[in-house]
Formats: sequence, C-alpha cells, structure tokens
Amino acid sequence: MAIEAWFMDDNGEDQRLPHHREPPVYVPPEQLAEIGVLYWRLNPQIYENDDELKKIRETRGYSYMDLLDLCPEKVENYEQKLKNFYTEHIHADEEIRYCLEGSGYFDVRDKSDCWIRIWIKAGDLIVLPAGIYHRFTLDTDNYIKLMRLFVGEPVWTAHNRPQEEHPARKEYIKSLTERVGLPLQAH
Ligand code: LAC
Ligand code: NI
Repeated sequence: MAIEAWFMDDNGEDQRLPHHREPPVYVPPEQLAEIGVLYWRLNPQIYENDDELKKIRETRGYSYMDLLDLCPEKVENYEQKLKNFYTEHIHADEEIRYCLEGSGYFDVRDKSDCWIRIWIKAGDLIVLPAGIYHRFTLDTDNYIKLMRLFVGEPVWTAHNRPQEEHPARKEYIKSLTERVGLPLQAH
C-alpha cells in the first residue's frame, strides 16, 4: 500500500491527532512527487543488511547514517527537541528519514501553502527536498525509531520560517516550476 498522506484541518488541537479534514482529503504519491517529496517502502526487519537500501544510499550518495530512538529515556532534552521538530522550518539539505519502528507525522507545505500530513510507519523511507517548509510530530502512539541519512557530514540546522531569502528556499521554489509534468522518481 502507498504511504498515507492527507490535507490537514486547521484546528489547533493536539498535534498528535490525525487532523483529517471533514470529509478526509487524501494526497496521492504523484502529488507528493510534484512538491519534491520521495518515498520508498522497504523491509525494516532487514535494514542492517538490505540491498535495496544499499542501492538507494549509493545512488543518492547517502554516506552518513545514524539512528534516532525518540523516547524520553534515550534523547537529551526530549521535550525541547519535540518542540523544535514541530516548529515550521527548512534545511539547506534534504531531510532523509527511514522509519524502523513506531510511527509519526511529517507535515509539508504544498504549493498553495496548505499543510499535507504524511504518516510514516515502519518500512517507510521518505526524502523531503532542501528548502521545503516542514515539521515533525509523534502521533498518539508516542514512539518512533528513525534512521537518519545524509550526504557527507550531517548538518541538522533548522531555519525557522520565514526563510524566503535562503538559497535553499529559492532553489526549491525554482525547482517547483521546473518539476511540473516530470514522472515519478520513486515508487
Ligand atoms: C526531524 C526528526 C524527526 O529532524 O528527525 O524532524
Ligand atoms: Ni526538518
């Protein structure tokens, strides 16, 4: 099954709730690809020895890898980190996350500045393009284990909105107009 994504309602209640519109409006993978979001479905049980993952890493140059186990016992400044993750921001580089256990929501802005909520579960590898406004939250299950990938030495710096003059933002806006009509780059 394809990854689940939908347009969010604009009610500011608990960020960990699904926030479907009424009635729900789902977003197909083609629509995610149009805003530069890619994803793959892999087998999380074999992540340590997965040829498909290896191929993706080689093709896209993802030389760096670490694991982020998002629970209060294992993460320093847990509450503060979660707050920062949910503050709308961009990065100068792609944000690449592979969910190994648990689940969570990556929210991304579409071309009309509406929030699309992407539900990541074990086996979902997602790539958010550099310069896209986004944020992350746990869902009501309150747990996720993520693999973080990066090209070269990782830079996790988040630049909070507004960032219209940031080079990555400008480049992303430009890529949006160029990407129209391009076929899917992932599956
Ligand atoms: C982030 C966490 C979820 O960077 O990896 O938003
Ligand atoms: Ni981010």
